[in-house]
Amino acid sequence: MKGLIVYKGKYGATMQYSIWLGAALNYPVVKSDFVRPDQITQADCIIIGTSVYIGQLQIKQWLRSNIPLLEGKQLIFFIVAGGVPDKLEEVRSYYEKCVPAELRANASCCYLPGRLSFGLLSLKDKIMLRIGAWFAARNGKKIEISDYNHVSRENLAPVIEAARLMRTSLFNPQNTVL
Ligand SMILES: Cc1cc2nc3c(=O)[nH]c(=O)nc-3n(C[C@H](O)[C@H](O)[C@H](O)COP(=O)(O)O)c2cc1C
Repeated sequence: MKGLIVYKGKYGATMQYSIWLGAALNYPVVKSDFVRPDQITQADCIIIGTSVYIGQLQIKQWLRSNIPLLEGKQLIFFIVAGGVPDKLEEVRSYYEKCVPAELRANASCCYLPGRLSFGLLSLKDKIMLRIGAWFAARNGKKIEISDYNHVSRENLAPVIEAARLMRTSLFNPQNTVL
């Protein structure tokens, strides 16, 4: 079975997880901006990693543009977000909102905790984060903007397990509890 890891992130958390996964599974790792159509058509199992910004998956647009190539493939998503694990239901809703139904039909999804280093953010992202915290405060939810780093290799265990099940043809997205 031929595998491929496609990812899109901004500040390295999703890329770090993708590199670890590539090494663990021996799959090539490509940023979505650079994937060639033939790499998708030749792969049987595609692992798709993405981070979340303001309730949107970074890879949303790429997914929409590649539905014809991805449809019918076995897909494993991993979503890297600040809301894992405390706001898991919210992060799950991003998956349903941003991943087209025809791709979710043959896919499973794992949720991985991310990292934030405020000093490294672009000015636009700093402002977005402050606006988000301001809106949350207006709705009675106090959000503190502080650095965190929960990225670790161990978090990848469910993704690696899903990929192994796929390799042994035991994969059934409906039965996968992640
Ligand atoms: C401007 C901004 C908006 C964010 N919005 C969300 C969000 O809506 N939900 C969430 O769970 N995490 C959110 N995050 C946290 C990121 O998803 C998290 O930092 C992730 O690890 C980033 O991964 P990356 O470096 O691969 O892009 C946000 C972070 C920033 C800087």
